Amino acid sequence: MSEWVHACATDDIDEEDLIRWNHNGKGYALYNTEKGFYATDIMCTHEEQSLEDGLVIDCIIECPLHGGRFDIITGKALSEPVYVDLKTYPTKVEDGELFVQVG
Ligand code: FES
Repeated sequence: MSEWVHACATDDIDEEDLIRWNHNGKGYALYNTEKGFYATDIMCTHEEQSLEDGLVIDCIIECPLHGGRFDIITGKALSEPVYVDLKTYPTKVEDGELFVQVG
């Protein structure tokens, strides 16, 4: 069953950046992009590398280890060496607070 969970204040994430958010023992990446707020899994699908220190370029996240890129909105793997898409999660903003639909 999926549920909306409060994650953080929108102000907690700098523009064109991401933060790590942990919920129920799982890590998520929360992004503030020019197109809005998005959520994906925190771990790269290539190897065991957190995207936490990755680079946000427009609506793309670049993995800090080998430079693989994903579309933040769709999770689609965009460039080698990543071939498996990132899982994404719906988000919503209410009164300056960010909620993520998990599960
Ligand atoms: S671990 Fe992310 S691109 Fe290799």
